[in-house]
Amino acid sequence: MKIGFGSDHAGIELKLQLMEHLKAKGHEVVDYGNYDPDDRNDDYPVPGRKVAEAIRAGEVDKGVLVCGTGVGISLAANKVPGIRACVCSEPFTAQLSVRHNNANVLAMGARVVGRELAKMIADNFFEAEFEGERHARRVGMIEQVEKDYCK
Ligand code: RB5
Repeated sequence: MKIGFGSDHAGIELKLQLMEHLKAKGHEVVDYGNYDPDDRNDDYPVPGRKVAEAIRAGEVDKGVLVCGTGVGISLAANKVPGIRACVCSEPFTAQLSVRHNNANVLAMGARVVGRELAKMIADNFFEAEFEGERHARRVGMIEQVEKDYCK
């Protein structure tokens, strides 16, 4: 799978560790920034939007976003139609976010989860598959909200 990565300064270190981990698992990785851990003004909406737009454009299949909590960067990504970004702090939610919600972006907080837990969360996310059927109906209802408000 081709995976796009994004983070603000708070998430850069964990992002790089996750890129290395998922690359070793055979995925193709693309870094959409940010790149400087000392730049406190590298606002999270920028990489959140970049990764979301890369998915929408078909440049990458899915995304990983990391900021301090995973919240701000996922909120930004979720404003792009077609993006389903979920903040996960444990593997069960990560797995179910794909199986039931067809999540296409995994968001994590570098100030919340440690490196090894983050790798486990990422493995559960990227090894899971969407189950469709009744879950497809529900995801379709979420997409309908976007359609109703993005005219
Ligand atoms: C940056 O200090 C922090 O606010 C950001 O990384 C993130 O946690 C926001 O949701």
